[in-house]
Amino acid sequence: MSAKILSGKDIAKQIRAELAEEIAQMKADHDVVPGLATVLVGENPASVSYVTSKNRTSKKLGMHSEQINLPADTTEEALLELIHKLNNDPKIDGILVQLPLPKDVDESKVLMAIDPGKDVDGFHPVNVGKMVVGEADFLPCTPAGIKQILIRSGVETSGAEVCVVGRSNIVGKPIANILLQKAEGANATVTLVHTRTKDVPAHCKRADILIVAAGVPKYVKGDWIKPGAVVIDVGVNRTGTTESGKAKLAGDVDFDEAVEVASAITPVPGGVGPMTITMLMVNTVKAAKIHHCID
Ligand code: GUN
Repeated sequence: MSAKILSGKDIAKQIRAELAEEIAQMKADHDVVPGLATVLVGENPASVSYVTSKNRTSKKLGMHSEQINLPADTTEEALLELIHKLNNDPKIDGILVQLPLPKDVDESKVLMAIDPGKDVDGFHPVNVGKMVVGEADFLPCTPAGIKQILIRSGVETSGAEVCVVGRSNIVGKPIANILLQKAEGANATVTLVHTRTKDVPAHCKRADILIVAAGVPKYVKGDWIKPGAVVIDVGVNRTGTTESGKAKLAGDVDFDEAVEVASAITPVPGGVGPMTITMLMVNTVKAAKIHHCID
C-alpha cells in the first residue's frame, strides 16, 4: 500500500487564490487594505526564512506589509514599546512577533502586550481562552492549517480517534483543543501524548488520525501507525544542507515507513508548512474585516 499524499502546498495555493480575490474586493468596495507587521529579533536562520516568506506572501496577496528586524540584543522594554506603537497604528491589522525570542526577553510578557484584536498568531491568553470555549476569532496558524488540510481532503474527524504527539503551546495543545470542539470539522476523541507518556507507540497505534509535532526527526516509526490511518507530520527538522546551500528537511515521522502503512500522509516539505503562512494571511484579513466592520 502507498498512502495518498496530502499536499498542503496545493491546498494553500487554493486558499491564497480565494484570499487574493477577497482582498481585491475589500479594496474595491471599502478602500480597506489589510496590514500585517512582522517583528523579527535576531538572526535565527529558520526564523529569518519564515518571516521573509510571511512578508513576501502578504505583499503578493495585495496586503500592506511591514517587516521590522531588530538586533538580537534588543531589550524587552524596546520590544514592548514597538508593540505599543503597532497596537496604535491604524494601517496595521495584524502583529506577528516571530518566536523563539532571545533568552533575556520574557516571551509571555511580549505576547500579552499585543492587542488581542491584532493577535493574528492567536497566542494571547484572551484568544487562547476564546479558542478553548469554542469562540475563537483567531486560531493559531499551524493548527488552523492542519484543520483545513483535514477538511479540504475530506478526512472525517467526527468520532475519530485522534492522537496528538507533543504538547507545545504553538501546535500540540491548540490542535488537541480545536479537534475536540463540538463543531464541524472537529468532534474527535483526542489523546495528547508527550515526553512523560508511558507508552507513546501504543497510543499512536490506536489513532485514526495521528498528528505529530514532537520536534524530533523521524520519531514516529511505521509500526506505530494503525493501517489506514491519516498522518499529519508537523515536524520541520533541518538535517543538513544540499550542495546548492538549501536546507535539507526531515519531518517527525519516518516517511518511507509511514507511507506504506497510512492511507494518507502530509509530506515534509510541502505539507503543513505552507499552510501555516497561509492561515496567517487568513487571520490578518479577518482582523481587518473586524476592525472595519466588514461582514
Ligand atoms: N515560531 C514557530 N512557529 C511560529 C508561529 O506560528 N508564529 C510565531 N510568531 N512564531 C513561530
